[in-house]
Amino acid sequence: MKSRRRLVTTIAGGALATVLAATLVSGPPATGGAFQETRASGEYHVAGVRTAADRTAIAKTGAAVNGQEDSRLMITATAAEVKKIEKLGYDVVAEAAPAKAKNASPEAFPPADAGYHDYAEMTAVINQAVADHPTLISKQVYGRSYQGRDLYALKISDNVGIDEAEPEVLFTHHQHAREHLTVEMAIYLINLFTDSYSSDTAIKNAVDTREIWILPDLNPDGGEFDIATGSYRSWRKNRQPNSGSTAVGTDMNRNWGYKWGCCGGSSGSPSSDTYRGAFAESAPEVKAVADFVRGRVVGGVQQITANIDFHTYSELVLWPYGWTFDDTAPGLNADEERTFRTLGTQMANMNGYTPEQSSDLYITDGTIDDWLWGQYKIWGYTFEMFPSCCTFYPGDEIIARETSRNKAPVLHFLSYADCPPRVIGQTCAAPGSVTVTNPGNQTSTVGTAVNRTNSASGGTAPYTWSATGLPAGLSISASTGTITGTPTTAGTSNVTVTARDSSNPAKTGSASFSWTVNPVGTCSPQTNGTDFAIGDHTTIESPVTVSGCTGNGSATAKVAVNIQHTYIGDLKVDLIAPDGTVYVLHNRSGGSADNINTTYTVNLSSEVANGTWKLRVNDNANIDTGKLDTWTLTAK
Ligand code: ARG
Ligand code: ZN
Repeated sequence: MKSRRRLVTTIAGGALATVLAATLVSGPPATGGAFQETRASGEYHVAGVRTAADRTAIAKTGAAVNGQEDSRLMITATAAEVKKIEKLGYDVVAEAAPAKAKNASPEAFPPADAGYHDYAEMTAVINQAVADHPTLISKQVYGRSYQGRDLYALKISDNVGIDEAEPEVLFTHHQHAREHLTVEMAIYLINLFTDSYSSDTAIKNAVDTREIWILPDLNPDGGEFDIATGSYRSWRKNRQPNSGSTAVGTDMNRNWGYKWGCCGGSSGSPSSDTYRGAFAESAPEVKAVADFVRGRVVGGVQQITANIDFHTYSELVLWPYGWTFDDTAPGLNADEERTFRTLGTQMANMNGYTPEQSSDLYITDGTIDDWLWGQYKIWGYTFEMFPSCCTFYPGDEIIARETSRNKAPVLHFLSYADCPPRVIGQTCAAPGSVTVTNPGNQTSTVGTAVNRTNSASGGTAPYTWSATGLPAGLSISASTGTITGTPTTAGTSNVTVTARDSSNPAKTGSASFSWTVNPVGTCSPQTNGTDFAIGDHTTIESPVTVSGCTGNGSATAKVAVNIQHTYIGDLKVDLIAPDGTVYVLHNRSGGSADNINTTYTVNLSSEVANGTWKLRVNDNANIDTGKLDTWTLTAK
């Protein structure tokens, strides 16, 4: 039997703990390898911790919470953080440093843990999988780490070279440097989906009907640093320097751009293990993933529906939100919470982990799962892998067992990725279930500002609005649907306005209508295409402004009228001159006939042509109604 390095946990007594703590933080420990370590923190446990409120109070000091064993909370903390925790009334006890097992070859795992893959070995595995299965897996570099390492994304699907209309599922690994088992999880999935494709029908089905993205190593700099000396450094963050501080690194899982730093769930101090960074996405590794996710918005629709972000340790299945203790909160309603909980519990039943909302552990802010959900409604889970407690460095003999342990939950997750709410018996509505109120045909004038609202129903607001065919100079607000601007060009165009459901981007609705822009300073014709509803016993007036004529109107002026109505004997239609003179066009003739679609000839030779003319429509009866669709005055 080979010998294997083990984390030796020594509990020191009270007075000794203080001495140890002081020793740990009195100066940076000596390190080997290429990097000068500027590490200010050490490993401790806090005694007498039982509730999420306890854990949140401790995490709020900036200490990284690693796991819980009985009433002991395992943490990584700076001396200042230890002091703060002690001030809260807890006993803080130092843990012995991991045993050293010097490794001859730098930046590789110690021989006893050779089953783990360092960055170069992981790259080799990826390249081999792509070489072996080029129709199933492709590799792309989505960015570079702070130190310039390639960040890899693997796409796995049938027809891998084509962007098919399949739900996309994202697996992210190794945000935290010392959580090396998560890279093994990625390697396991890569090999599973490719090597077992032709022999395992469940795998084949998943690969055929989904587009799977595996980002196997979000933090390669941190991972390499953690193993670089041959003895583990218990490093968590990336390796980006912090200006104004000798402390290195940002906690990537506090650096995401949703409620970043909002809620006491991260630290503002660069020496902390939960340092949130100078601003959201300040870590290049986080920005690269966020850009990758943003790049999966195709045609206004985020293609990724679901994510699992792998960590170690504690054997947990976690779901949003982390920033609040509340089960539901803005952007996360009761049905969504039930979906998260139900699917999370089912997955936990398969791997034997404990399912809970992530804030049941302690409050966090700026985490990837909150961002994916808050920004994109991507069903984001966090898996904390083996062991339940208390080491980041289990021996390599557990890799096969602890990665394959997640085969069933991952396949279950993939099977619901088309519509996670299916797990609580809901359907994800097909496109078209949003209804946009048709505003009817629109008219405006070159050079005159426009402000037209739109409304939608049937989906979950807020809607995301877009439009095609708008007259030049006009635009639609994506958030409100209001069309504003000043038309620059005369003419008529066909406009389609679309509203997209924010909680289910597959749900959209649209309305189409014409938009006429009249020229300014041109004598005629002038159109008002805006619809006016004609109710019983009502009178409406639709104006047009004539501005470019000289003198009076023509003796054979034309008034083209388009009214939709089910009983034109109800209607009186008049043209009103700018000075108020009434020209009767239609006066309750026609009986039960439908619609007026007539061009009237009117003698306007005694009227000054310029000014505001109106078409007045009066319905003087019961039952039948309609609308004025459009009318055009050719005054000269
Ligand atoms: N160990 C993880 C971390 O500290 C757990 C995060 C839990 N919260 C969450 N929103 N996923 O980053
Ligand atoms: Zn982690």
